[in-house]
Amino acid sequence: MSGRAVRKIIAANWKMNKTVAEALAFADEFAALWSGQGGVEVVICPPFTALYPLGQRLQGSGLLLGAQDLFWEERGAFTGEVAAFMLREAGASHVIVGHSERRHLLGESDADVRRKLQRALQEGLYPILCVGETLPQREGGEAEAVVCAQLRAALQGCPPSPARLLVAYEPVWAIGTGRNAEPADARHMALVIRRELESLLGRAGAEVRVLYGGSVTPDNVAGYTGMVEMDGALVGGASLRPESLAAIVRRTEEAGHAT
Ligand code: 13P
Repeated sequence: MSGRAVRKIIAANWKMNKTVAEALAFADEFAALWSGQGGVEVVICPPFTALYPLGQRLQGSGLLLGAQDLFWEERGAFTGEVAAFMLREAGASHVIVGHSERRHLLGESDADVRRKLQRALQEGLYPILCVGETLPQREGGEAEAVVCAQLRAALQGCPPSPARLLVAYEPVWAIGTGRNAEPADARHMALVIRRELESLLGRAGAEVRVLYGGSVTPDNVAGYTGMVEMDGALVGGASLRPESLAAIVRRTEEAGHAT
């Protein structure tokens, strides 16, 4: 495990926030705060409407662009949906798949998540697959079983070498609540996830990057990104202000140097 030499990644999930003008202003302010030399990959995931203009603004900056969702069909009569090739054309390299807000608020099923994941991989995007248990599931001692079942369902029929896959462990009770998981618990789940990935995908499973998400802030991020088992963080609320995201990236860079 300690031989894994992967770049840490900080992904910003803006959810349903920011106009195009606000997204562009963020990009300019963040660029002034971020050297790009620290070895941490930064992916900004704005709403669909800001993808293309933000992608244009980010060209040559070293910052990466991600979408928050995609549809599983290639193209056609699917009113309101957005296809993977459209995301690529808009400049996205990454896409969040199966976020708990989509699973729980919008009824996205394991089968939907699997189809979206496969489409993303097929079309050359880097999917950030979100998994995580609810509070009753954790309190009932089911957290590991739930997370492993979500992984199995999502990866069923997956190509055998998903070097492009990222998995974000986002306990539902930690999202937007200010109640982040204990780093030791997140570490334990990262190990459980990796073990499940290796059983599903063979040795390629070890290459999948595992992130933590849920009430990450500049003050607590190093507790996660400083450990070898965790390859980065998926950040919601604290990614909306440039200074806050820049501090999260800086703390991750410093934590990497310390290990
Ligand atoms: P918060 O960082 O606001 O808790 O959101 C986490 C999240 O859902 C990232 O995808």
